[in-house]
Amino acid sequence: MERVETNSPEAAPVLEVRHLKKYFPLQQKGLLRRTIGVIKAVDDVSFVVRKGETVGVIGESGCGKTTLGRCVAYLYEKTDGEIIVRSGERVFHLDELNRGNNSEFRKIVQVIFQDPFSSLNPRMSVLRSVGEPLLVNGIASGNELEARVADIIQRVGLSVSHLQRFPHSFSGGQRQRICIARALVLNPQLVVADEPVSALDVSIQAQMLNLLKDLQSEFDLSYLFISHSMSVIRYMSDRILVMYAGKIIESGSRDDILRQPLHPYTEMLLKAVPKVSRRGSGRLQDVTSGEPPDLLNLPSGCVFHLRCPYAKKVCREEVPVLRAVGDQRQVSCHLAEELVLQGVFD
Ligand SMILES: Nc1ncnc2c1ncn2[C@@H]1O[C@H](COP(=O)(O)OP(=O)(O)OP(=O)(O)O)[C@@H](O)[C@H]1O
Ligand code: SF4
Ligand SMILES: [Mg+2]
Repeated sequence: MERVETNSPEAAPVLEVRHLKKYFPLQQKGLLRRTIGVIKAVDDVSFVVRKGETVGVIGESGCGKTTLGRCVAYLYEKTDGEIIVRSGERVFHLDELNRGNNSEFRKIVQVIFQDPFSSLNPRMSVLRSVGEPLLVNGIASGNELEARVADIIQRVGLSVSHLQRFPHSFSGGQRQRICIARALVLNPQLVVADEPVSALDVSIQAQMLNLLKDLQSEFDLSYLFISHSMSVIRYMSDRILVMYAGKIIESGSRDDILRQPLHPYTEMLLKAVPKVSRRGSGRLQDVTSGEPPDLLNLPSGCVFHLRCPYAKKVCREEVPVLRAVGDQRQVSCHLAEELVLQGVFD
């Protein structure tokens, strides 16, 4: 359901997430299908994204990044918490959206997925793929639709001669450009970009990131930008959320997080960056020490303590809470005030 808010403050965030939880019940195989455990993929996560801002979400595989993005884009029903999206005076509370009738919300929030190969229907031409959201939402048809598709396709760096072609005749980078065009054709406010360059050749990743930045300024977009790669997050983000085992364990401005991490896990991710480029590997767990935790069997106390070089007795016994440090930062580490961790400088 959509509400109209009067006197809404100019600076109200485009996206507000409060105490979001997304749990997946794990069911026994067989007839009875008893629930034998619960995967807390996103567990009490709160943050905002403001207009024109990029909030980067970083963390190792399985920490809940995609689940978070899918909840925000209403591709998953959340278990608990609140998600609020604002566009001017219009306010969408995801609790009140109806699965069958959420076209207004879809115009505001769009998603770019990791894999441009499976995100495009192989039987649809570029014109149909990119024009479909306009048609489905009753926004344009016929010549007007073609003109709008031609316009956006050129803005993402393709040409009108591509409109009648099918996905198989494009490279990975070109396909991702088509996916970006499809996401932007409705003129959204917020784009959830889930690893949008991870499936692409390293040589064209920078091109795509620059394209996303250019389009952001052109359309005044806000991005929730998800990646396991610190170098990508570093390049794209204004603010950064660091996720570990379904929770935000540190957040702050890009510069603060890079120069002076407060959580040992963030320090570990930052140290991994040069090794990523030397080895040519894209996966953080290749270069960070230890394994991400099993979400069904989390360690006691601080869930990071088995991998943390600074862990003390208190870390094994007490769960640290996410708390404010100064105005703009949050961290969940017992020792945040006493540790002097190593950052990076650009
Ligand atoms: N549909 C689902 N049903 C059950 N469990 C799921 C589902 N989707 C995700 N999970 C589990 O939730 C956890 C978080 O998964 P998610 O895909 O959000 O992680 P991620 O951070 O995006 O990882 P990656 O970097 O590998 O993409 C994982 O343990 C995963 O197995
Ligand atoms: S609480 Fe302890 S184990 Fe956890 S990150 Fe901080 S120092 Fe390491
Ligand atoms: Mg993912």
